[in-house]
Amino acid sequence: MPGCDFTRRDFLKWSGVAAASPLFAQRLLINGAGRERRRRDDISPVNLELVTLTEDRAVITWYTGYTGTDDGLGRMRPAAADGEVRWGTHPDRLNRVAGSRWPDTAYHYVELRGLEPGRTYYYEARSNGMPVPPTPFTLITGNAVGTSDFGLTTGGPYSFTVPEPPPGRFLFSMVLCNDLHVGETTAGLVGGIPELTGIQQVPGRPPYPEVMLESLVDDSRALGASYLLAAGDITAEAEPVDLTRAGQLLKRFGRYRRDWFVTRGNHDRAHDGEAYAGCRVGEWQGHDCFHDRFFPGDQPTYFSRALQGLRVIGLDTYDKPGRGNDPGGLSADQLDWFRTELAEHRAEPTLVFGHHPLVVQESPFPITPSNTLDAAQVATVLGDYAQHPGIFLHHAGHTHRNKHTISPLAPAVTLQEVAAGKEYPGGFTLLRLYTGGFALNFYKTRSRAARAWSERSRQEIFGLWPQFALGSRVADRNIVVSRDLSDVQPVRSRRSASDAAAEERRELARD
Ligand SMILES: [Fe+2]
Repeated sequence: MPGCDFTRRDFLKWSGVAAASPLFAQRLLINGAGRERRRRDDISPVNLELVTLTEDRAVITWYTGYTGTDDGLGRMRPAAADGEVRWGTHPDRLNRVAGSRWPDTAYHYVELRGLEPGRTYYYEARSNGMPVPPTPFTLITGNAVGTSDFGLTTGGPYSFTVPEPPPGRFLFSMVLCNDLHVGETTAGLVGGIPELTGIQQVPGRPPYPEVMLESLVDDSRALGASYLLAAGDITAEAEPVDLTRAGQLLKRFGRYRRDWFVTRGNHDRAHDGEAYAGCRVGEWQGHDCFHDRFFPGDQPTYFSRALQGLRVIGLDTYDKPGRGNDPGGLSADQLDWFRTELAEHRAEPTLVFGHHPLVVQESPFPITPSNTLDAAQVATVLGDYAQHPGIFLHHAGHTHRNKHTISPLAPAVTLQEVAAGKEYPGGFTLLRLYTGGFALNFYKTRSRAARAWSERSRQEIFGLWPQFALGSRVADRNIVVSRDLSDVQPVRSRRSASDAAAEERRELARD
């Protein structure tokens, strides 16, 4: 499911492109009768990705499976293997070695630490004595493994250049996440397309949205995030039981509306039916359990807060009637309120988050009006952003992909789409604020169960899903922007160093 609103018509428009892809044909062949098996003890690595790149750290992931096998999803059956990354500052001298954070796994996760800002590094990952090939990009330009094309035609080593840190003094960090879909049981479904049967959790394992959210919260804490913003599609269908479960899992991060905040996505809209009967009558339709759970009483489903001098505005982008498969929209009241908030806080450093993006560009799938907020409202909002010197970031979900966009209508505002928490690549973006700017870095969630589900759900849309969701460039998920944020105050950590160390030990032990 490319985003929350992908339809049969979208798929048919897109499938012509996909069918022309050799990978697509190959996937069909793998799923068909022509599968060929080789020695089971022959293990191959695939799907190399440079996921995270900060000024001092890189996270590299890949997968190992039994060569020539098929687990029924069009990929090799998982096979635990060794894994290491050799790296250095010259392609012929990879003189440093980093091992997997968790050795002997099929779901490899290696961190390179101690990188120097501005330096170019070269690396090669190996498992079972073989170099790991990149996740193939056949429908899009760009690559999954480096900040340049170095090594792509020669089979590696690959290369990346480390960014400079944001200027100034570190203030605090926030997790930006979305599309948690608690309650969902099948990922990658497209209505009316029988070939796309979707992907389910391995029988006997916990529900995948919960696996992913649990790790997301644990990883966010381990990275020292002070706040967490979840931009919609908290649940699959806004059922009370799923809203409660999402709240329970998010509570592990801290206190609601002090430490973590949510906004509504189209999946969280008011529904009809027995499960919803106990909730308030929705403003537009059905019964609104999301409103009851997260904005009880007379509160509206949108809000504005000052956090350490940072203005945070949360939008309800499905404040309208509908079945969730049309453009997002703010009610007239909410749009008026939003514009007033922007005007009243013109000079404050401001971050806006909401489910539907303002702008969706450069996709291998068709871009439809339902991908974004209502077009007329987008024009109004971007016009206001251009007049608002304080706003620096608008975080959105809905598309289930990592994408960094700058609109010429408001060039000073970073528009960031963040991939879904609940499926491949599965994770969150860490926003780090400094007095002179900010960094955005995407992290895959990293518990063993989360890494396993990320690799399993990679097979959505005949295995073409990564080309949509990961981000076509490292810079779609890792950026640094210079900006005067000196009015924002630092957070004094609520956790001691020993708390952080204990959390790190628990994380390593839980696998
Ligand atoms: Fe979603």
